[in-house]
Amino acid sequence: MALLDVENFSCGYGEMVAVRDLSFAIEPGQIFALLGPNGAGKTSTMLAIMGHVQIKGGSLRVGGTDITRLPALRRAGLGLALVPEGRRLFSDLSVAENLVIGGYSHSRADEKRHLARVFELFPRLSERRGQLAASLSGGEQQMLAIGRALMAAPRLLLVDELSLGLMPRMIDLCIDALKKLNQEGLAILLVEQNTNRALDLADNVCVLASGRSVFQGSAETARRDVDLLHSYFGIAA
Ligand SMILES: Nc1ncnc2c1ncn2[C@@H]1O[C@H](COP(=O)(O)OP(=O)(O)OP(=O)(O)O)[C@@H](O)[C@H]1O
Ligand SMILES: [Mg+2]
Repeated sequence: MALLDVENFSCGYGEMVAVRDLSFAIEPGQIFALLGPNGAGKTSTMLAIMGHVQIKGGSLRVGGTDITRLPALRRAGLGLALVPEGRRLFSDLSVAENLVIGGYSHSRADEKRHLARVFELFPRLSERRGQLAASLSGGEQQMLAIGRALMAAPRLLLVDELSLGLMPRMIDLCIDALKKLNQEGLAILLVEQNTNRALDLADNVCVLASGRSVFQGSAETARRDVDLLHSYFGIAA
């Protein structure tokens, strides 16, 4: 059974439809990349999956459970956690405080265990646990945003624009962490403007353009599709 099943899904804002008739599935342990140009509807799709953008048609299922009309708060309990575009940290709280907020629904024992796990994954965060989030570098802030999402012990991690504005070295550290988490069984839905990095990381890919799916298949097939790379990513093959 798919971990996430998106079927004939549409979402939008008021009268405006941002994504139309989208279908894809993510299997447990898979990395799935949602790609496409600016304004294609990638963030809207992620936010609608999390319950923050209005779903206008179709259905969403997590592990077979229909969540199409489930309030956002209840979706975290089903194992969905988001690393949002722009990170959205609490800048005047410490690293440790930001992390604890991410795992608010767990017991103290779970909290301690998840915190230890995040600090093991990102030693830089451990060293800076008392420091204010605002004083971290961009890469460290992205690590903190990932760590905060992990505190909810998700089955599917949704990551919007992981590499945006980061130095290559920091992108490497964040991607290494995602690979490690994936090897331990975590499924990942990735939105990424760095197409090459996304195709390296993902098993399967969906390309959105103007709110519609224009390609679905393996990352390997996408990499070999010269027209696709040229038309949507400006990559000369
Ligand atoms: N809060 C909002 N209210 C109204 N329209 C919105 C809102 N947020 C996004 N949109 C519109 O929805 C469409 C899809 O936007 P979305 O942010 O999902 O694209 P995206 O693929 O994430 O783009 P980017 O690569 O620039 O992040 C765009 O036309 C955008 O203007
Ligand atoms: Mg976006």
